[in-house]
Amino acid sequence: MFYRYSGNSGIQLPVLSLGLWHNFGDVDDFAKARDMIIHAFDSGICHFDLANNYGPSPGSAETNFGKVLHDDLYAHRDEMFISSKAGHEMWPGVYGDGSSRKNIIASCDQSLRRCRLEYFDIFYSHRYDGVTPVEETMEALIQLVRQGKALYVGISKYPPEKQQLAYDILREAKVPCLLSQYRCSMFDPKAQMENFQLATDNGSGIICFSPLAQGLLTGKYDNGIPANSRAAKSTGFLQQSQVTTERVEAARKLGVIANERGQSLAQMALAWLLTDQRVTSLIIGTSSVAQLDNNLSTLDNLSFSEDEIRRIHNIISDPQLWF
Ligand SMILES: NC(=O)c1ccc[n+]([C@@H]2O[C@H](COP(=O)([O-])OP(=O)(O)OC[C@H]3O[C@@H](n4cnc5c(N)ncnc54)[C@H](OP(=O)(O)O)[C@@H]3O)[C@@H](O)[C@H]2O)c1
Repeated sequence: MFYRYSGNSGIQLPVLSLGLWHNFGDVDDFAKARDMIIHAFDSGICHFDLANNYGPSPGSAETNFGKVLHDDLYAHRDEMFISSKAGHEMWPGVYGDGSSRKNIIASCDQSLRRCRLEYFDIFYSHRYDGVTPVEETMEALIQLVRQGKALYVGISKYPPEKQQLAYDILREAKVPCLLSQYRCSMFDPKAQMENFQLATDNGSGIICFSPLAQGLLTGKYDNGIPANSRAAKSTGFLQQSQVTTERVEAARKLGVIANERGQSLAQMALAWLLTDQRVTSLIIGTSSVAQLDNNLSTLDNLSFSEDEIRRIHNIISDPQLWF
């Protein structure tokens, strides 16, 4: 594993982190989930990304992670960097959603209990909710740090003007933003264009989610939607309407280049994002240990020739592919 410093901080993170959004809930096979967590940790993936609502059912990914942590990994707690987030719909009533102080503080307490943790290494505002003043949300994050419930804070999916305001408030309070979490992949360059430089200029690390476009950048949809794939599952967030002819065709073309490099398409797609030195880490999802191993082998070849860069750009510069 390789590690990079997160922004201007003293924290290093593995370039590949494991996310528990899908495949770790109570609808999933616990033994398989446990194997993936332990195998990830044994392979140098010391950063695990959670959120209050991951499952389904919401909260169950944290509960399952807490069980693995408690039963198998607790002796290694200080070798791990564990995140959670609040801001999306989680519990009934007007306080179970959004980025208010009420939601953030209550949600963090619930997440700590589910994960059986005393503190999170980083706690995020999962989103700018369009209503709550950024000041209120950031003050809630700052309070979590002052209370010892989180060591660091981060933001996710903030539009540029709110992103800058968040950095300014956090810096003023001497609780600088450790990580900015944005969706980014070969099919999804928006954050790279709009948010990354702002994060870097403000000393924040950048962590990318859905770097494989939820599986579209693996070649698995080349011949239709396989049973058991995320797009086929009723609990999956990848909609069949997002598996477009253009994306499948582009993945096929990219697969040819990956093959010439001796890589899987997934490996090439991850290596591509890591060429951006502003990026601290990529949060991958996996539904098996075999996928995890495949993605870990990305690290065997992280460089691209001029010709490969040109050919890849030609394929992915088509806005029809973008989310
Ligand atoms: N901040 C936010 O709002 C936010 C939002 C979304 C996600 N996240 C974080 O980002 C993490 C990753 O997101 P993601 O799961 O969408 O990431 P992803 O890496 O783009 O997609 C993961 C999926 O791709 C497929 N896959 C992965 N490796 C493969 C391989 N080598 N070969 C074939 N298929 C492979 C699997 O799907 P199959 O089921 O088809 O096998 C896997 O579940 C989440 O767990 C979460 O922690 C954050």
